[in-house]
Formats: sequence, structure tokens, C-alpha cells
Amino acid sequence: MSTNLLAGKRGVIFGALDDKSIAWKVAERCVEEGATITLTNAPVALRMGGIQELGKKLNAEVIPADATSEADLEKLFGESQEILGGKIDFVLHAIGMSLNVRKNRTYTDLKYEWMQKTFDISAISFHKVMQQLYKMDAMSEWGSIVALSYIAAQRTFPDYSEMAESKALLESFARSFGYHFAEKKVRVNTISQSPTVTTAGSGIKGFQEFFDYADKMSPLGNASAEACADYCVTMFSDLTRMVTMQNLYHDGGFSNMGMSPKLLEE
Ligand code: NAI
Repeated sequence: MSTNLLAGKRGVIFGALDDKSIAWKVAERCVEEGATITLTNAPVALRMGGIQELGKKLNAEVIPADATSEADLEKLFGESQEILGGKIDFVLHAIGMSLNVRKNRTYTDLKYEWMQKTFDISAISFHKVMQQLYKMDAMSEWGSIVALSYIAAQRTFPDYSEMAESKALLESFARSFGYHFAEKKVRVNTISQSPTVTTAGSGIKGFQEFFDYADKMSPLGNASAEACADYCVTMFSDLTRMVTMQNLYHDGGFSNMGMSPKLLEE
């Protein structure tokens, strides 16, 4: 149901790979709420995924950009402003990838070259996105920037491996850059989402067991990708103008639980 919360707003959405991607749902909801957007992903992902199909459906231009490349980001934000007809009101960073996890290296045997790439893709790219937007003065006043995070930034989830440190870094960038962007009246936050069945999520060892565990641990159950999209819409809307530098849990209550009787019953 649309309430036109984003009427007239212009957005850039990173990270829609296929119809399971959280960014895919966010893009759909933003357009439903009246926004016009550009979609972007790494050139290799454009070849693999169905993002062009999403672009057609949402009447959104798809612009390739490797989020670790400053030149690609400059081009992306320049073109987006031209296509959308003005400064950008909201940006979603929904990017995550661990080379060590993908290549089955355990946490006690990490390859550091891969770890650095993981940090670059999953966390430093967020700083690069913000720095580029800041230097180009590409964000509108009262604009909103959101990145997606996970509670492994605060608690230990052994199989999440080096992605835990990536998320800790990501959340820290939101706080630090949030301070500087406030000068331009732009807010920066991270949303810490429940485990969600997507390509990135399912890449973590034992994901299904963990998904079920979190579902039982959370009094409201795991938050779905669709619910995350709704939350992103509120964060992009004018109703949350004074929320900045926060890590916002969107997890059905998981983060504040100690023990769940539902789990003990089994
Ligand atoms: P996904 O696999 O659909 O999305 C990850 C995206 O990152 C893909 O579209 C991929 O192409 C993109 N990407 C990778 N390298 C890139 C690069 N160099 N430049 C630009 N884009 C690049 O998976 P999902 O789950 O939708 O992930 C989105 C975000 O949500 C990630 O930050 C993830 O860590 C986060 N998240 C996911 C959870 C889950 O359980 N699925 C839980 C909490 C947070």
C-alpha cells in the first residue's frame, strides 16, 4: 500500500542482484512510494543478475559501478543527478562480500590479502560513497544515507568470520561521516537487519540453522526483506529527519533478548 511518502524524491540504490536481494525489495517499495531512482551494481553483477529486468519494471536507469572505484562512483552520482533531474535525496548501500568466507578459509586461517578486499568491498566502499557524494555536493538538504549491517558487529557469530569486522567498520563510518554530513543537513545511519535468505546471506556456513535459531530467539520472528524495505522507506522519508549517526536494529527484538523459552522447548 502506497502512502506516497517519497513523492518527488530522487534516490540511488546499490546492491540489487536478484529478486531475493534486500535492495531489490527496497527499490520496489521506494518507487511504489513515489520516488524516482537509479539502480547500480558491480559490472560483473549486471551480467549475472536480473537487475535490468528490475530497471525496466521500475523505469529506473541501471548504471554499472564497482563501489570500490572512486572513478566509477563519481560517474554514477554525476549521471544519476542528470537522469533524475537534481540532487539526490537518498542512497542505499546494500553491499557485502567476504572472499575468505567464499573460499572457505576459517577465521583462524584468514588470508590477509582477501581480508583487505573484503573490507574494501563491504565497508570502505561506504566511506567512498559518502566521500564522493560529499565532495560533489550531490546530496539534497535533509537527504538520507543508509547502509545495511548485521549484529555480528557487536556480538560473536563464529561463522560470520571477517564480515563481523566489516560490519563494525561500516557502522563506525556511519557515525563518523554522519557528524560531517550533518553540516549539509544530511543524515547517515545503518540498519542492522535479521538474517535474510539472499545470495550474500546464504553464503554463510550453516545459514539455515542460524536463520531458524534467530527466528525463534526474536519475539516478533525474523524481519523479512520486505519489512526491511518498509523501514528503509521511513528512513528516507521526511518523518525521520532528526535520526542520524545511529545503528538501528530491525530484527524482531533479537538484539535485546537473553534467553528464549521457544528455544528451550526443543
Ligand atoms: P545480495 O547478495 O543480494 O546483495 C549483495 C550485493 O553486493 C550484490 O548485489 C552484489 O553484486 C553487491 N556487490 C558485491 N561487490 C560489489 C562491488 N564491488 N561493487 C558494487 N556492488 C557489489 O545479498 P543481501 O543479503 O541483499 O545483502 C545486502 C546487504 O545486506 C549486505 O550489506 C549484507 O551484508 C546485508 N545484510 C544481509 C543479511 C542477510 O542475512 N542476508 C543480514 C544483515 C545484513
